[in-house]
Amino acid sequence: MSKKPIIVFEGVEGTGKSHHIKKVANYLKRKKIKFIQIREPGGSINSEKIRKLILNNKSTFNKETDLLLYLSARSENIEMIKKNAGKKIILIDRFSDSTIAYQHYGMGVDLKFIQNINNHLLKNIKIDFTFLNTVNQSNMKKRLSKRRKLNRYDKFDSKFYNKVQNGFLKLLKTNPRKYIKINSNLDLDVNENIILKKIKDLI
Ligand code: TMP
Repeated sequence: MSKKPIIVFEGVEGTGKSHHIKKVANYLKRKKIKFIQIREPGGSINSEKIRKLILNNKSTFNKETDLLLYLSARSENIEMIKKNAGKKIILIDRFSDSTIAYQHYGMGVDLKFIQNINNHLLKNIKIDFTFLNTVNQSNMKKRLSKRRKLNRYDKFDSKFYNKVQNGFLKLLKTNPRKYIKINSNLDLDVNENIILKKIKDLI
């Protein structure tokens, strides 16, 4: 495996994904290891513009328009990823698995349609490893109800997020060696240690 891997953090809302990516970034900074960090949608100037459009509460796009916007946001990051691949570690907060989990398993958009465009955009970009953050039903409900600043994608019911999470788990099963499931029902520091240990193996 590349010593400058592309590492993705996935999971439904409220699973601690963004917390963990921040911890990993802090570790790499402390160790003076070169990396870039992006989030999707977003992560570059143009992609952030598209993010605002998708997640704005006043937007009323249909599910296929949403898909195309998420992929547009990705398209604007491809150059940056290619430029850094193999030179710096790349940490990504959500990537292709989110598109399949949310737009296909959550919303029912055709899988082949998603894969065709996504594969076209990615060309030979390969994800080396994914941390999949999961949560159980009751914690999911609790955490969703505690969220304050809600965007358009924070407002689905827990049935939807459950379908999305099951979608993520199906993706993990297709290639289990490239994933770790992080059980966010456990203590945060237990998971921080699991993630950091794996990061040390990967780099
Ligand atoms: P965030 O809250 O983790 O920043 O993500 C924004 C929302 O976008 C989140 O609800 C997941 C959703 N999303 C998709 O539906 N499809 C995608 O391809 C991506 C990257 C995110």
